[in-house]
Amino acid sequence: MHDTEDINVARRHLLISGALSATALTIPLSSLHAQDDPVAQTPAPATSRLTLHVNGETHELELDTRTTLLDALREHLHLTGTKKGCDHGQCGACTVIVDGQRINSCLTLAVMNEGMEITTIEGLGNKDQLHVMQAAFIRHDGYQCGYCTPGQICSAVSVLKEIRENIPSLATAELTAAPQVSVDEIRERMSGNICRCGAYSNIVDAILEVAGKTS
Ligand code: FES
Ligand code: FES
Repeated sequence: MHDTEDINVARRHLLISGALSATALTIPLSSLHAQDDPVAQTPAPATSRLTLHVNGETHELELDTRTTLLDALREHLHLTGTKKGCDHGQCGACTVIVDGQRINSCLTLAVMNEGMEITTIEGLGNKDQLHVMQAAFIRHDGYQCGYCTPGQICSAVSVLKEIRENIPSLATAELTAAPQVSVDEIRERMSGNICRCGAYSNIVDAILEVAGKTS
């Protein structure tokens, strides 16, 4: 009798402590899970309303503030002529012209370009009316796969503008003299635009032709 009572008491204690430990395990684990989960703790991304002027058109957008200009152009405005190569400022495939200057659109945030005049390859010309640089690239076979070509052409247009404005480069012999259009100048100034197909010599020929010279 005594043994049976002892067993019942022990069983009751076991059930109580089991229930307590189950509760203790359940509550803290679930709250710990919520506290430790970095995704659950991440606040919603900040967005910003902005106006982009692209190729003469105005676009109202609401974007995650971390959106690069390249992604805004390609993913939100569907201007896929601008290419994503490295996404790290190393290949030039994403080159566009902002307020007359070429930039790598993967290295700038869309919100930083609000109110500026952005020109992509689609804004330079179209198939019915090519920009002179586009026509020269075609005449000189300045491409093979064409992936780097929009960036090359945007850069090439800017390069001739830089030379016209007497902006020196590393290849300019005299910093105080007007830079000349030469193969060395073109190669140096275009060195940020990589062409995996190796169409470099034809690209230089195209730029020289537009500049009024032949190589
Ligand atoms: Fe911007 Fe390569 S994609 S520099
Ligand atoms: Fe293919 Fe330049 S044409 S990467």
